[in-house]
Amino acid sequence: MDKKGIEQEIARLTKELNHHNHLYYVENSPEISDYEFDMLLKQLQELEGAHPEFAYDNSPTQRVGGDITKKFETVEHRYAMLSLSNSYSKVEIEDWVQRVLKLTDGEEIQYVCELKYDGVAIGIQYVNGKLNRAVTRGDGTRGEDITTNVRTIRTVPLELKGDFPEDIEIRGEIFFPLKKFEALNESRRESGEPEFANPRNTASGTLKMQDSSIVASRGLDCFLYGVYGYSGTEGHYEAVKKAGEWGFKVPKPAERYIERTNSLKGVMNYISYWDEKRKSLPFEIDGVVIKVDSYAQQETLGFTAKSPRWAIAYKFKAERVSTTLEHVNYQVGRTGAVTPVANLTPVQLGGTTVKRASLHNSDQIEKLDLHIGDVVFVEKGGEIIPKIVGVDTSRRKQAAQPVDFPENCPECKTQLIRREGEAQHYCPNELGCPPQMKGRVEHFIGRKAMDIDGLGAETVDALFEAGLIQNAADLYSLTFDQVVNLDRMADKSANNLINGIKASKEIPFERVLFGIGIRFVGETVAKKLARHFKNIDALKTADFDSLVDVDEIGEKIAISVQEYFADERNLEIIEKLKAAGVRFVVEEKEDASNKLEGKSFVVSGVFETFDRKQLKEIIETNGGKNVGSISARTSYVVAGENMGPAKLKKAADLGITILSEQEFIALLNG
Ligand code: IVH
Repeated sequence: MDKKGIEQEIARLTKELNHHNHLYYVENSPEISDYEFDMLLKQLQELEGAHPEFAYDNSPTQRVGGDITKKFETVEHRYAMLSLSNSYSKVEIEDWVQRVLKLTDGEEIQYVCELKYDGVAIGIQYVNGKLNRAVTRGDGTRGEDITTNVRTIRTVPLELKGDFPEDIEIRGEIFFPLKKFEALNESRRESGEPEFANPRNTASGTLKMQDSSIVASRGLDCFLYGVYGYSGTEGHYEAVKKAGEWGFKVPKPAERYIERTNSLKGVMNYISYWDEKRKSLPFEIDGVVIKVDSYAQQETLGFTAKSPRWAIAYKFKAERVSTTLEHVNYQVGRTGAVTPVANLTPVQLGGTTVKRASLHNSDQIEKLDLHIGDVVFVEKGGEIIPKIVGVDTSRRKQAAQPVDFPENCPECKTQLIRREGEAQHYCPNELGCPPQMKGRVEHFIGRKAMDIDGLGAETVDALFEAGLIQNAADLYSLTFDQVVNLDRMADKSANNLINGIKASKEIPFERVLFGIGIRFVGETVAKKLARHFKNIDALKTADFDSLVDVDEIGEKIAISVQEYFADERNLEIIEKLKAAGVRFVVEEKEDASNKLEGKSFVVSGVFETFDRKQLKEIIETNGGKNVGSISARTSYVVAGENMGPAKLKKAADLGITILSEQEFIALLNG
């Protein structure tokens, strides 16, 4: 291909991929398979790599991130980013409607009701239909340019379609979908990192990250709530609809995410509906927003110093009760993180009895200036765990003692440490602090690690109490006689346990590596390290550079791996596990191949020749990937007997090839 041809090909692929991205993420109706999408993307990446001069700023290859921003530049907003006046009662909404009617001389008013997304405000500028710049709210006049990170959000179009205006700014809210947030915390739990407290702050923190590929991996989303610099419609409602035609993800009337009404009654009805239904949304909202629709009337109404008179937010009340703080205890987790927990006089809140609330860390205690015996206010907002939001100091007894964060571990008395820049205190006695020791064994036997049948947290506790184990390696010298003597252990369960431990010696190295619990080494990282280094000795002696050379392994993980192997006690446990026959080498299976590379599978139902677990192993051994649920990105569904009709229908609707067990075997055999 000549230069001209390459330039054209890059333009064509860019356009085509942006189109399919929109169909997939915004319309939920993809036209090509994930595989085809990935192949087109790969083609474009290669062409751009060889001819960077032709690559577009808005290339879909930007979606995966990779650019590092050391410092976000501060830029001025073209249209000030104001806030909304808040109200907490329906009476205030009535008052607002009265004011609006008065200021518009009793004209007929259409109100637009919308959700108040609980995320981070963003202004995105498009010039000639191309995403030009994305800026945070900042102080309302100036914000930070976070364009590289915003480009990775799949529902934000990089290029507009249809009859878009030449120069336009879109305002919206970037938020963390709840499912993605929970998945992120789950993976942090697994790798021993502290969990994030709530989706809003995590969205905000994510957008300020320097490495855009991390932003890309987190799955942020964006809803639009304002169109600036467009005069093609008479009002806001139609402008939002129009923005949908240009490719934005806009709130849909059918879901009541947006609604137009000409009466106060309609507004109240909207508020009541979402006050009740908000818990079923896949993202958090903290209220609804009511806007006057007509731009002409908006102009008549104008602004106060801080906010428009033509809009008002109705904030949902977080349910709040007061109760007494009886005492604070400190839980030590598997990673040594010490979490203060408030023990409260039981109180009813949002349909459940609340007895405890997490205080997160010592900063939180200080901020609240908590004293034992305080009357505290407890709230349950969008989050499930109740939270202490304040103290009624007027009711504090004079002799009340302040809550003092301990200097020593409540379990093993080792002096606690607090690393620079971290809010959490840690007990550094990893290998000698009982909850950490037990936690490590529990992690080791877990379903995603050694998956030991017949062994659970309770038995681990009993084994510790009886002095039979100190660490995971000790499990392998347990005898039937020792185990059967434990409380509530019958012959059969003792047998099960011993057999389960024996069977775990067949667990592949990557899961053993996950199981030994190196800080920051979650399931995926363990897989990468195992496949790269092939055995524990190579990993143990790997230097820093060769660790960070591995795909997806950063400095933090590399340091943690090195620290782990620098500790004699860890090496001792590994030697013992090795001697017991646990796998520390990747089994290069004879039947391994790359035949299924790039393909993702959902295996569901009951099979004849293999069981589900075996089928999944065969898929992985041959380079394929197992995924949990069917999406447009799934390449194949392997369907056995009794596969649910809903799943089958979903696969069929998305046009995914459904294979029987025999067809799968045929596919494998070429
Ligand atoms: S309209 C001139 N609509 O709430 C005010 N804001 O305090 C324009 N927000 O910073 C804002 N959902 O981040 C508007 N449907 C919605 C919203 C919304 C969330 C946020 C926005 C703004 C804050 C206002």
